[in-house]
Amino acid sequence: MSNREEQFTKAAYDPRDARHHGAIHVPIYQNSLFAFDRHDQFDDAMKELLNHHVYSRGNNPTVQYLEQKLADMEEAESAKCFASGMAAISSAILSVVGQGDHIVCVHQAYGPTREFLSSYLSRFGVETTFIDGSSIEQWRGAARPNTKLFYLESPTTSFFELQNLRLCAELARSLGVKTIIDNTWATPCFQNPLTLGIDLVVHSITKYIGGHSDCIGGVVLGSKELIDRIGYMEYMLLGGIMTPQTAAIVSKGLRTLPLRMQRHEESGLQVAEYIGKQSFVNRVNHPGLPSHPQYELGLSQMSGFSSLFSFISTEPIAKLKEWANRLKYFKIGVSWGGFESLVTVNRVGNEEAGEQPSSVVRLYVGMESPKDLIADMDQAWKSI
Ligand SMILES: Cc1ncc(COP(=O)(O)O)c(C=O)c1O
Repeated sequence: MSNREEQFTKAAYDPRDARHHGAIHVPIYQNSLFAFDRHDQFDDAMKELLNHHVYSRGNNPTVQYLEQKLADMEEAESAKCFASGMAAISSAILSVVGQGDHIVCVHQAYGPTREFLSSYLSRFGVETTFIDGSSIEQWRGAARPNTKLFYLESPTTSFFELQNLRLCAELARSLGVKTIIDNTWATPCFQNPLTLGIDLVVHSITKYIGGHSDCIGGVVLGSKELIDRIGYMEYMLLGGIMTPQTAAIVSKGLRTLPLRMQRHEESGLQVAEYIGKQSFVNRVNHPGLPSHPQYELGLSQMSGFSSLFSFISTEPIAKLKEWANRLKYFKIGVSWGGFESLVTVNRVGNEEAGEQPSSVVRLYVGMESPKDLIADMDQAWKSI
């Protein structure tokens, strides 16, 4: 489990000292090309493109700086940063599967990840079985002789369901299967899956790590062996690289990640507790509340809880959307992880299958005072 206090030093301090002329922020190396004076130096560098600065679709110093900082925080040997979370996720998945292979994935994983697995990879003969993933028996039962990957997202980011990372990693190892987890929700501050035996961690940097809703990025972290393989193949061949400007912006934001997460955790829990007491709420999905069915599991594998959660309501969807319209501090939007609070309302439940129609309202608690956010939600509901 991550030591929360250590993350403050890892985020603020720069053990490799990247200062040039004393500059306290990493310089932006706005270069495609790095040139050599002697051909023997060039020949040596070409043999190990990821360890030398030759071409920025390989290794750019500003991007490398961010990769090393993220690797320190995630307790990884190595990291590669990508143009988006989806570029990181698709590259990580492609690095472990080939034609005819099988994947087991949590059914509530991020939508485009599921789409990539079910629609895109099926074109290449890769099949995916989706399971809810809450018990290890489901993973064991879904595995086949040709299974190459268990794909986890814990917590999932609509219903906030958890998987037991230690047990999944142990089972996967025994079956010769690789494990990837989307750790975007917890961030390296609250969960370090590699220390629990998971092979590769992916993050959408766009969310908390970026933290200011000003850039899109992703990262894959793991052993040097697995990351080098991704670096030479998916990173260089598909070319979804992070730009040096984005890496510099993210590096600046990273300094305050532990502080921001501390604030998000406190405010998120206050708002979730308030929501749990409201008459229009049937259930709150927040892994940091003792009422969450996997609360104990969460405590055993996470050292904190972030501020994206949802609630289920059987109020008419139009009424819930009107409530969202009347909120002053919560904007309506898909992303999260920035300073601004957000809300979205979506229909759930298959009425044709006889399920009761209900809505899932996803709330993201930003940096505003939780008192103001609660008062805002109260006034909006009372005004309808
Ligand atoms: C949990 C999760 N993973 C991955 C992604 C994809 O990240 P990006 O939008 O940076 O490609 C998202 C984006 O919303 C997400 O919520």
